Amino acid sequence: MTYRIEIEGLLAERIGLDTGSVGSGLIQQAIQARLSVLGLAEPGPYLRILRNSDEELAELVEEVVIPESWFFRDKHPFQRLEKYARENWGPSGPMTPLKALSIPCAAGEEAYSIAITLLEAGLLPDGIQVDAGDISERQLTRARRGVYRANAFRGEGPRHRLAYFRELAQSWEIDPRVRRLVRFFRANLLADEQWAGQNTYDVIFCRNLLIYLTKPARQRAVATLDRLLNPGGILFVGHAEMIADLQPHFLPDEDWGSFAYRRGAAGSAEREPPASGPKAERFRETPLRFSPEHQKSGLPRAPDSAPTSPEEILDEARRLADQRQYAEAVRLCDQLVRNQVPSASVYSLLGMISLATGESDKAEAYLMKAVYLDDADVEALLALGLICQGRGDADAAARYRRRAERARLRGEAK
Ligand SMILES: C[S@@+](CC[C@H](N)C(=O)[O-])C[C@H]1O[C@@H](n2cnc3c(N)ncnc32)[C@H](O)[C@@H]1O
Repeated sequence: MTYRIEIEGLLAERIGLDTGSVGSGLIQQAIQARLSVLGLAEPGPYLRILRNSDEELAELVEEVVIPESWFFRDKHPFQRLEKYARENWGPSGPMTPLKALSIPCAAGEEAYSIAITLLEAGLLPDGIQVDAGDISERQLTRARRGVYRANAFRGEGPRHRLAYFRELAQSWEIDPRVRRLVRFFRANLLADEQWAGQNTYDVIFCRNLLIYLTKPARQRAVATLDRLLNPGGILFVGHAEMIADLQPHFLPDEDWGSFAYRRGAAGSAEREPPASGPKAERFRETPLRFSPEHQKSGLPRAPDSAPTSPEEILDEARRLADQRQYAEAVRLCDQLVRNQVPSASVYSLLGMISLATGESDKAEAYLMKAVYLDDADVEALLALGLICQGRGDADAAARYRRRAERARLRGEAK
C-alpha cells in the first residue's frame, strides 16, 4: 500500500499524473504487470529500481497512460484551424510555414488530422510544419508507422480515408505525403528542461491530457504552453478542459471559446497576429487532393442550409455547444429526443453540455442514458468516472474507468 502511494507520488512528480483521475486500481495493475515482467515478487525492490532507472519509469508510464484518440476528434477544432489557416496563411500571408504542435499526440491521429486540415485549407506542403510529441514510445512507434484500424476513424465519413490513406487488408495507411509533414518526438510536457529554448508554434493542440494532471502539474503545463505559443496563435484544449488555470494566460477565442484560446494581455504582452508579407508562395487557391478516388467522388463540404436529417441536427447541436450556445444546442437535442431519435450521441452531448454548465446531477442522468444505449461510448464512461470522482465515490469512478478501458480495447480490436 505505502509502496503504491510512493509510486503514485513519483508518477505525479515526473509526468504530472493525478491518480484520482485514472484510479488507483490502474496503477496497481500497472505495478503488477511490471513486477511480473521483471520476475519480482515484492514491490519493495521494484520501488528501488524505479527510483534509479528512467528506463523502468518509462516502462511503467507505458502501462498507465490512456492513449485514446481518433482522427478529427471533436471535429470543430479542425474547422477552426482551417479558418485560422485560411485567414492568416492565405495568399497575402507570411512566407514562413505555419508551425503546429500536437502534444500529446498519442498514435498520431491528431497530428495527421492537423496536417490534412492545413492541406485542405490550401497550404502547400512546404508551408506546413507539424511537430507531435508524446511521452509514450509505444504510441510514437504506432504514429510513425501510420497504420490504423477502422476504429481510429469513428464518427468520420469516408472522405478523409479515401483521400489520404491507402487501404490494406484490414487497416489504412497514411499517405506518405501527409506522413512527411509530421515530425514525431518523445516529449514530456512536464519536463521543463525539454522545452527551454524549444521552437515556438502558431497553433498548439493540447487535448485530453490536462484532465489527467494534478493541479500543480496543470499549472506548469499551462506555463509551458504559454511560452510555446506564438503571437496571435491558438491553443486548442479538450471539451472537459475549459479550466480556470488557463486564465489569465489565454482568453477564450471569440465564437469558438469552449475549446480554443488565444493569448491575453494579462501576464504577458498582448500578441499580434502574424505579420503578412508578399503574396505567399505557400498557399494554393485550390485545396490539395491526393487520391483519384477523392477527386472522382467530388464530396461536398458541409452545407450552409438548415440541418434537416437527425445527423445534421446533431452536428449543428455539437457546433453550437462548441460555441457555448448551450441553450440553442439543448433545443436541437430536445427536438431529436422528442422525435424519438434514440441516439446515445444525443444524450452524450446533453450530458457534456450539462457538465459544462455545472449541472452535474443532470449530466450524470444524461450520460447514464447514453451508456445504457451504447456501452461503447468511451467519453461518456470517462465523464461519468470524473463525476463520481468529483463527489468522492472512488469505487464507482474506478468501475466507470474500467468499463471505458474495456470499451476502448473492444473498439481497437474492430
Ligand atoms: C487521451 S490521449 C490524447 C491524445 C490526443 N491529444 C487526443 O485528444 O485525441 C493522452 C496521451 O497523453 C500522453 N501523456 C500522458 N502524460 C504525458 C506527459 N506528461 N507528457 C506528454 N504526453 C503525455 C499519453 O501517452 C497519451 O498518449
